[in-house]
Amino acid sequence: MDTVYSPTEQVGEYTVLRILGEGRYGICYLVSKDNKQYILKQLKRNMLKKIGHKANYEPEILKTLNHKRIPKFIEKLEYDKFLGYILELKEGKTLEEIIFIDNYVFSKEEIFNIAIQLIDILKYLHGKGIVHRDIRVPNVLYNLGEIHLVDFGLARWVNEDRYVETVDFSYFGDFLLHLLYTAYNVENEQEKPWYEELDLPKEEMIFLKRLLGMEEVYKDINQVENELLKIKQNIKNKKDLII
Ligand SMILES: Nc1ncnc2c1ncn2[C@@H]1O[C@H](COP(=O)(O)OP(=O)(O)OP(=O)(O)O)[C@@H](O)[C@H]1O
Ligand SMILES: [Mg+2]
Repeated sequence: MDTVYSPTEQVGEYTVLRILGEGRYGICYLVSKDNKQYILKQLKRNMLKKIGHKANYEPEILKTLNHKRIPKFIEKLEYDKFLGYILELKEGKTLEEIIFIDNYVFSKEEIFNIAIQLIDILKYLHGKGIVHRDIRVPNVLYNLGEIHLVDFGLARWVNEDRYVETVDFSYFGDFLLHLLYTAYNVENEQEKPWYEELDLPKEEMIFLKRLLGMEEVYKDINQVENELLKIKQNIKNKKDLII
């Protein structure tokens, strides 16, 4: 069994402040060292034995990345019975918390802003031949209009047979639906698919359907970006027309 650390306990030079979560492969802590806070990810050793080290490429992948919206890899920690690594702490609450606990309602403008930032991150990742494979509301932090993408536990190098960039598009589409649904009040019991339930303009609907693979899939992230910018420009033109 792995030791689970409690607040005030030391792991090497780091002091545990609190546990942030426990995933399949590890435990995530908020820690501090020299008055600075970090993220510590402890790997579960029995899980590693079962599935081997190949299951988690997060440290290796993060080492190769340098983007302000992605946590930096700081160092590996290896002791007698402990295996883990330290990551840069990023600002913000998860969108999961903001949506389901704070019940925050996102405006279209905020959603566009988040989408554009996420596309920028995906352009960087896909450009480096990396797919994230887990773009979901618990893995995106949000603070004062700015996002950070965390949790590279499922990230992989692109491999045309198994790991393709387009999986990130369908996760991205589903992620956007979560944000759009914050402004939707469930009125009737009868469940309808999102494209009937959400009152979206046609071009936004097609954009989401293409992301989700219900219509012709985008060929790359640049095409996704172009489409979103076009939608934004059209909204602006319509507004200008009214004024
Ligand atoms: N670099 C970071 N900065 C700030 N908060 C973080 C950071 N990394 C993780 N967190 C927080 O800790 C939570 C859990 O981390 P993470 O999502 O990386 O792992 P997990 O989902 O528990 O595990 P798994 O690797 O099995 O998916 C996140 O949802 C987020 O709230
Ligand atoms: Mg996670």
